Amino acid sequence: MDSFVYKNGKLFAEGVDVETIANEVGTPVYIYSKATFLDHLKKIQTAYAEIDTTICYAIKACGNITILKHLAEAGSGFDIVSGGELFRAQQAGAAGADMSKIVYAGVGKTDKEILEALDTGIGYFNIESEPELENLIALCKKHGHTTKAALRVNPDIKYDSHKHITTGVKETKFGVDIERAQKVFAKYDNNGVVEMSAIHVHLGSGGKTIEPYVNYVKKVLPLVEALRSRGHTIDALDLGGGYGADYQSDTVPSAADYAAGIVPLLRAAKLKLILEPGKSIIANAGIMLTRTVFKKIGGEKTFVIVDAGMNDLIRPCLYEAFHFIWPAAVDEKFVPEKRVKDLTMPGTEVVDIVGPICEGTDYFAKDRAMPTVRRGDLVAVFTAGAYGYTMASNYNARPMCPEVLVDGNKFEVIRRRQTYEDMIALEK
Ligand code: LLP
Repeated sequence: MDSFVYKNGKLFAEGVDVETIANEVGTPVYIYSKATFLDHLKKIQTAYAEIDTTICYAIKACGNITILKHLAEAGSGFDIVSGGELFRAQQAGAAGADMSKIVYAGVGKTDKEILEALDTGIGYFNIESEPELENLIALCKKHGHTTKAALRVNPDIKYDSHKHITTGVKETKFGVDIERAQKVFAKYDNNGVVEMSAIHVHLGSGGKTIEPYVNYVKKVLPLVEALRSRGHTIDALDLGGGYGADYQSDTVPSAADYAAGIVPLLRAAKLKLILEPGKSIIANAGIMLTRTVFKKIGGEKTFVIVDAGMNDLIRPCLYEAFHFIWPAAVDEKFVPEKRVKDLTMPGTEVVDIVGPICEGTDYFAKDRAMPTVRRGDLVAVFTAGAYGYTMASNYNARPMCPEVLVDGNKFEVIRRRQTYEDMIALEK
């Protein structure tokens, strides 16, 4: 579900007309709905309630600390991949987040980052390679720390997503091949400081079906059994993230659908479960709102040029990602029932929606049917909550746009717009 709906032809985020936000805060702007991401978290918590499950929201999807605080208050832990994300989690921690509910993945953790995480007392290091494990053991011994770790294994499972966001196959930089896992445990378990007590798997992002998840659990459980039979204590399974998010209405399984496939397999396994959802919590809890600067004809094409660019939302350019795009104010007959690519209605026109950046890849949609917009009209880019703001940059010396959180009939700026001065503040 999400809480971005048209009322009398005007787009609302929960109880707030998005035009009000644009007029007060300016555009482009990211707008998040608190009710939506809390609902998504709750649905995952409910779906897996039967098993001892820790949900570790993937901060990389959207790391604004106000959002992290709300998720932590609702019981979420965090999946981090850098010292910076640890720092963000700590800010949420100040509001009561439990640091032991943090899992730390990433193929290139530096000594500094590892020590910061050890000092914080995170739950698990998700180990991506043998050299990383050796280094973690050495640092623990040198600095008098102990910690828990999960070995990330590559189950070599086919995953239907864009090639840039598929990771659970052989020959990726992530994790170790599942066949090598037993050797790694044999060599490094009983090291005295790093308790190797879990298995981690992450297949990729943007999943559309539950099969890969069911298949990898089936592949990993025999590994757990084999490890246990050799005397290793394995008490947790981290199934990573990548659960489908609703970019187009009704095209992905729900949390309950995933759980229906996964939970029965785990009932007898006596394993704690860790999940690292990003998109499925935050993607359609956010939109990017932008204003039409110009409309122009080029050859056969009509271009709608908006004031957001690929620096604000890079997903279409980087992954050919689909985002539903629709004006924020429309005639009642244009209120969309579905958010699909091929939503054609009589009276719409086919346009390319592009940004102002000096690159041909600076587009949000090509050959897309949309109700006619004019200069000054607001346009909403839907399902932009995940990997939207977090992947934004200052390219073309464009200030980073603000983030706004809507809660019922109220909204607050949870990150202000950068100024030109902010942009050069660290330069000499
Ligand atoms: N756990 C691990 C180890 C990950 O690498 C990721 C995402 C997640 C969890 C969360 O995955 P999610 O539930 O959000 O799909 N920028 C790309 C997605 C990159 C995903 C990277 N890893 C995009 O915009 O589609």
